[in-house]
Amino acid sequence: MKERSWEELVAQAVRAREHAYAPYSGYTVGAALLGKSRHVYTGCNVENAVYPLCTCAERVAVVKAVSEGEQEFVALAVVTENGGAPCGSCRQTLREFGEDIVVLIADATGAYHKTTVAELLPDSFSAANLN
Ligand code: THU
Repeated sequence: MKERSWEELVAQAVRAREHAYAPYSGYTVGAALLGKSRHVYTGCNVENAVYPLCTCAERVAVVKAVSEGEQEFVALAVVTENGGAPCGSCRQTLREFGEDIVVLIADATGAYHKTTVAELLPDSFSAANLN
């Protein structure tokens, strides 16, 4: 894919971050997940006064996509203030749907670096381990 397309996906994650509900941590996160259908599913973190119920932006995007019938993904962009990387739970959630998914990790200015699920979660556990 062209660099331009990656930038557009990051821009969608930047916009999704504006919807973040993060009154407890103050750390807002936006995500944009590109499906093979070319549809983009956005997500933001949604916190809760019962802290363990906080949901990450990336997982919101994945759950939205799967619940709308899409299970194959090309790339996910995630945006935070300081370019924080996806947490372990989100890496495993993405891994469920493939190791080759491109992950764009961006900061609030839109500057990003490109990696993959395989790089973020080496030697991963997957459906292949379950007979
Ligand atoms: N968060 C995400 O949305 N994605 C991640 O990959 C890491 C953390 C959120 C969860 C919580 O609302 C806030 O960032 C601070 O941890």
